[in-house]
Amino acid sequence: MNDRKLIGVLNQKGGVGKTTSTTNLGHALARSGQRVLVIDLDPQSHLAPSLGLFKAPRRGTCEWLLDEAPLDELIVHTRENLGLLAAGRRLREFEEMPGSPSERARLLQAALQRDMEDFDYILFDCPPSSGLLVANAILAVDEILVPVTGDYLSLNGLAHLLMTLKRFEPYRDRPMEQWFFLSRFVARRRLSKEVAERLLNHFPERVLSTPIREAAALAECPAAGRTIFEYRRNSNGADDFSNLARDLVERRMMA
Ligand SMILES: Nc1ncnc2c1ncn2[C@@H]1O[C@H](COP(=O)(O)OP(=O)(O)OP(=O)(O)O)[C@@H](O)[C@H]1O
Ligand SMILES: [Mg+2]
Repeated sequence: MNDRKLIGVLNQKGGVGKTTSTTNLGHALARSGQRVLVIDLDPQSHLAPSLGLFKAPRRGTCEWLLDEAPLDELIVHTRENLGLLAAGRRLREFEEMPGSPSERARLLQAALQRDMEDFDYILFDCPPSSGLLVANAILAVDEILVPVTGDYLSLNGLAHLLMTLKRFEPYRDRPMEQWFFLSRFVARRRLSKEVAERLLNHFPERVLSTPIREAAALAECPAAGRTIFEYRRNSNGADDFSNLARDLVERRMMA
């Protein structure tokens, strides 16, 4: 057993920056020498184009989970140290497939035990839902990383997430670490600061120290199929994601 870290990038609220963070944090970690695998658990399948694969692989997560297809046949090596397991076309049928939900919620756990290569960090891009794919992530990961945006409804969304986590707690075999970070952050906005303060009050020692600022370049990256380190290496977005990667590795918290 190596000390690989399984991290779910999770928030049931849509559009908060889960995919952007999985992509750019994944690349930041890979650039610092960590061996990284990013896994798409979202049938929207945005991870592949975000990493430049505009013709998304037909096979991926669904085949690994359901057909027990070997991982090394499914992983695409996209950058040095950065592998991708794309969603695959069938993942959108996953929620509707027959079978007992309690068994189907453990497919990821089983797959990780059956067939996982040597990586330091495995990041899961989760969908904005409360369905079975999210249940699979919650039951399998060691840690969750939650992007939180500075808008009025984001704290509502967090309450929902915490309830979901609580519901699964009895079914997990070990404690889960929870990390939060500010996403799409606009410092001059009063509401952003308020959300930051409330987050810190609720989760002292759990908020990573670097906010990811709202930045046009980050929004432009997916269309170019490049990460921020390729698209705009000297930018706020690149600085923020390098720093966030260090926060995660070194456990640097917001004071
Ligand atoms: N820091 C940022 N600055 C500017 N735009 C951003 C930033 N983070 C994300 N975006 C943009 O916001 C949109 C939503 O981001 P993203 O797809 O990463 O969110 P998500 O949480 O994965 O969404 P979903 O819940 O649909 O999966 C995208 O268009 C993305 O490019
Ligand atoms: Mg997404």
